[in-house]
Amino acid sequence: MEATACADEYEHITLDVMYVVHNIPGPGINLEEFESEYSLGCSCTIRCFDCSCTRGSPNYIDGRILDEKLSVPIIECNSHCTCRENCDNRVVQNGPLNSLIVSEIDGKGHGLFTSKPIKKGQFICEYAGEVVSMEEARRRIETNKNTMNYVLVVSEHIGNQVIVTCIDPKYFGNIGRYANHSCEPNVNLVPIRIEGPVPRLCLFASRDIEIDEEITFNYAGGVPNFVHKLSHTPCLCNSNKCCGYLPHNTI
Ligand SMILES: C[S@@+](CC[C@H](N)C(=O)[O-])C[C@H]1O[C@@H](n2cnc3c(N)ncnc32)[C@H](O)[C@@H]1O
Ligand SMILES: [Zn+2]
Ligand SMILES: [Zn+2]
Ligand SMILES: [Zn+2]
Repeated sequence: MEATACADEYEHITLDVMYVVHNIPGPGINLEEFESEYSLGCSCTIRCFDCSCTRGSPNYIDGRILDEKLSVPIIECNSHCTCRENCDNRVVQNGPLNSLIVSEIDGKGHGLFTSKPIKKGQFICEYAGEVVSMEEARRRIETNKNTMNYVLVVSEHIGNQVIVTCIDPKYFGNIGRYANHSCEPNVNLVPIRIEGPVPRLCLFASRDIEIDEEITFNYAGGVPNFVHKLSHTPCLCNSNKCCGYLPHNTI
């Protein structure tokens, strides 16, 4: 059976991490900005296919993200929209897959796996944690230099604006924090907005994923590694395309 969405009832295997279902504001973040919400929604009554939320063409078909949407900003329907709870443009907000498993893996600590097959395009889970300022992210990356680093820095180029989001699920995080890096990943990380402008970093399968296969994404955000700075941490992704070291978070 294919994995389906669920209410997020996952827990951490260790007591030193607090489970948070979604992002929370961390150091250096303006609370008012973090909590600001869109004041408008669409006025559809049945389906949201080409409305103001999907802006001309659907973001998802059969609950799966479309390839051509991977590089454009995606906004899901929100609490102001008049569409139904099962509208096609509500995917991430329905929660992570119900099949995720965290297991130990040689040399990498823990990793994320699935007990049910996942189809290409399916939403897996968020990479949620503390949203921190760039200064705080820089400080934490430096502090974690010789240990595991969970800080992820994502830059979106929207028009002539660059929006940088820094998320750290080291102390407060969800199940997504266990996803390791691979130079040949099976998952894309996509920023998605629902109630407001702070994006959620969402993991979507980039191909079909089999039972017990490790779920991985490229920490460099899809930028070819040869143009990305590499860290000093050896990469254990085992891919033929491995560039030897984990990508470096440059900010
Ligand atoms: C976001 S965490 C991933 C989950 C982590 N493995 C754990 O046990 O909680 C990122 C850290 O995992 C380790 N890691 C992730 N991908 C790796 C890889 N391909 N090779 C070696 N270590 C990796 C590194 O220590 C990295 O700083
Ligand atoms: Zn809708
Ligand atoms: Zn709509
Ligand atoms: Zn690698």
